Amino acid sequence: MLKRTIPFGTITITDTAKRLIAEALESKRISCGKLVREFEDRFAALLGVKEAIAVSSGTDADILALAVLHDFGAKRGDEIIVPALSFVATGNAVLHAGFTPVFVDIERETLNIDPAQIEAAITPKTRAIMPVHLMGKPSEMDTINAIAKKNGLLVVEDAAEAHGALYKGKPAGSLGDLAAFSTYVAHIITTGEGGVITTNNEQYGEILRSLRSHGRNCTCKRCIMNTDEVTYCAKRFRGEGGEDIRFTFDRIGYSCKMNELEAAIGIGAMEVYHEILKKRHDNLIHVLERFDRFAPYLSTIKEESHERIGPHAIPIIINEGAPFTRAELTRHMEQNGIETRTLFASMPTQCPGFAYLGYKLGQFPNAEYMGGHGIHIGVHQDVGVEDMEYALEMLRQFVESK
Ligand SMILES: Cc1ncc(COP(=O)(O)O)c(C=O)c1O
Repeated sequence: MLKRTIPFGTITITDTAKRLIAEALESKRISCGKLVREFEDRFAALLGVKEAIAVSSGTDADILALAVLHDFGAKRGDEIIVPALSFVATGNAVLHAGFTPVFVDIERETLNIDPAQIEAAITPKTRAIMPVHLMGKPSEMDTINAIAKKNGLLVVEDAAEAHGALYKGKPAGSLGDLAAFSTYVAHIITTGEGGVITTNNEQYGEILRSLRSHGRNCTCKRCIMNTDEVTYCAKRFRGEGGEDIRFTFDRIGYSCKMNELEAAIGIGAMEVYHEILKKRHDNLIHVLERFDRFAPYLSTIKEESHERIGPHAIPIIINEGAPFTRAELTRHMEQNGIETRTLFASMPTQCPGFAYLGYKLGQFPNAEYMGGHGIHIGVHQDVGVEDMEYALEMLRQFVESK
């Protein structure tokens, strides 16, 4: 078989995106304005939710979605339940939002938080559960929502990797109280760098728009000063002293707006979204359906009948008893043109930044196993079924050589 190259990710920049970028540059209006608004409207429509708030990264989307809790009595140091295995941004975001992450192990088969272990992690300080739909596979949301309801908690989905994922017919990002997406280049709808928070709660939408802009008092869904060619907003100056609501700060805010150039790329991506999604999903399923041939040494996730996996990437796990290491598999794949990423790590016990929380290696056996034995490879729109066949063949050659 001829050598091929399968890079981990790609980005599609459409002609519309290029035109919108040129127009924005020409107009000199490049900070968060009408293109961001349009991108948000399209993102919300795609998911069938009321609100989409665009920010500068998926991590910021995670942070802001959690920071909303401060408006409802949550205190610094209160707890958020998260899976032990995720891209480290999930745990970082909990801390940056002023909370303490409480980690729960994952299930080996789904790579997602183990719902059976959540209740034991709830304390009087718990405010929310933040499931991560890792590798685009939806978490077990019915159970998670039921636990949250019973205990008076919010559910904040980390849907960074779950563009296009469906759980019982409903899109990831519409399954909890709030959700956070990343639109970084590795993801299906991309803006280069960026993120989006989605929710059906309009009050949360107002708070999120304030949070992304320093906590200011403006509450309009559509800012006329940023989206229209007007310079005067009648709502701005209030009271005898001429106080300006743009400089009245109701809460501790952040500075993480998306800009117009990023939104332009995102609007372009929306035009080709369904095409890209199909191609990526076809690639993913092609491999998943043929993966049993590598048993008992390698495994991956499965698409079950109640769901559609958001085709982010293909996880590959080296099972116990396999006569090779992850380092050997990685080297083989990389030397044959297939870029790899590790399958993250157990945040509390394999990422040194979280050591101060006092967790001990061995507490999260499944997450830790993935941290030592998992990789993932790309399924993006610039590769096709022949490339997936090539990846399968490289895996076959590797396994059979051992
Ligand atoms: C599960 C998860 N959460 C959060 C993020 C953070 O997104 P970003 O890199 O856009 O900050 C990522 C990154 O892609 C991710 O995979």
